[in-house]
Amino acid sequence: MYKILRGMSDIFGERAKKMDYIVQTASRLALNFGYEYIETPKLESSELFRRGVGDSSDVVSKEMYEFSDKSNNLITLRPEGTAGVVRSFIQNKFDKSKSIKKYFYYGSMFRYERPQKGRLREFHQFGIECFGIKNPYEDASIIILGNEILKELGIGTTLRLNTLGSGDDLKNYKISLLKFLNQKKEFLCDDCKNRIDLNPLRALDCKNKNCKAILKDAPLIYDFLSPEAKGEFQSIQEILKDNKIDFILDPFLVRGLDYYSDVVFEFVLDELTLLGGGRYDKLVSEFKGEDTPGIGFGLGIERLADIINLNEKSKNLIYICTLNEYLVGEIFNIGIKLRENFKVFISYEEKNLSKHLKNASKVGANKFLCMGEDEKKADEFWYKNLDTKEERNIKISDLYNFLKRARDEI
Ligand code: HAM
Repeated sequence: MYKILRGMSDIFGERAKKMDYIVQTASRLALNFGYEYIETPKLESSELFRRGVGDSSDVVSKEMYEFSDKSNNLITLRPEGTAGVVRSFIQNKFDKSKSIKKYFYYGSMFRYERPQKGRLREFHQFGIECFGIKNPYEDASIIILGNEILKELGIGTTLRLNTLGSGDDLKNYKISLLKFLNQKKEFLCDDCKNRIDLNPLRALDCKNKNCKAILKDAPLIYDFLSPEAKGEFQSIQEILKDNKIDFILDPFLVRGLDYYSDVVFEFVLDELTLLGGGRYDKLVSEFKGEDTPGIGFGLGIERLADIINLNEKSKNLIYICTLNEYLVGEIFNIGIKLRENFKVFISYEEKNLSKHLKNASKVGANKFLCMGEDEKKADEFWYKNLDTKEERNIKISDLYNFLKRARDEI
């Protein structure tokens, strides 16, 4: 028997419903915020990710699904969405025309990580990217959009906020941090020892207890910020406060990908990052496009699906059936009409009532409509709410209004 590859999953049943609901909810809110859908390929040249995400990141140095195709091109299954969207933005010359573009996307990402809870090798992200606007209101809007999505899904998180500064701020900070880390090198864990020369920032989010204690005395990015970067970061915080978005400042929040500058943020629950993002104002020019500011975020759809409860509205399913073979055509036509507004399961077979009720619960329906001979004569359905057990007869002419009311009342 063939088995699924490690770290990959089949998505069906309740989990599929949850993931679909997350995408629908996030897409609806992104559309309200002026974003449009984009889809880029899952395969891109390896160079795109090396250059964009950065050689020093774990994602590129350890986790890429990289291989040569039949023409010996080195290609990679995308480990994240931003680099591909930036490539598309430049390839379609939106940088040259100084366009403002706001995109959302969703789909599979691939990272060869050690599989564990919340960490898959093929996982799904919903992401947004905004090009051509550099303004604290835009930064705050994007954080507010992330907050709205999580709120709508009923997930309470902590928002962590930091800035990596602009221009040379980060470069100067890295020099100072590296000096500090080299002084303490012998006390750091092996991982940190190995990576501080490649990217000293990575030591800041090391989970090792010793490293954490040492880093308490590390220099902080705030002392290296230019007045403009400081001012912008301050403005973002004020806009968030005005909009009643709680956050905590975390000077050690650096994110795992190398393209970030200025504001970075993560929505975290129980140590697990559900949604993360930030500015990447240098990335378009890094890819040889015209200098264009960019900002965005990505959220892990499986990580959210592990947490959310589908609300009753999204579960609403009507089961429509008959006790008599000659009425199948009639309930079929009514079921099709109802499908314009409701989620409906139509049973094509005559069965007795208790068999239909069993079937209805098997398919996950919560509303039940049945027509037998008596109901046919009276132009009505026998209705049962399978959650509340309420039973009654409803005239066919009242059916739409009744079902709509029942749905809205949930
Ligand atoms: P990221 O933080 O690497 O950012 O990933 C975004 C989200 O994807 C994470 O917060 C997490 O929820 C989910 N995720 C990451 N790795 C895994 C995994 N192995 N298994 C399950 N879920 C995972 C990015 O990818 C950036 N492109 C986000 C961005 C967009 N920044 C600016 N624009």
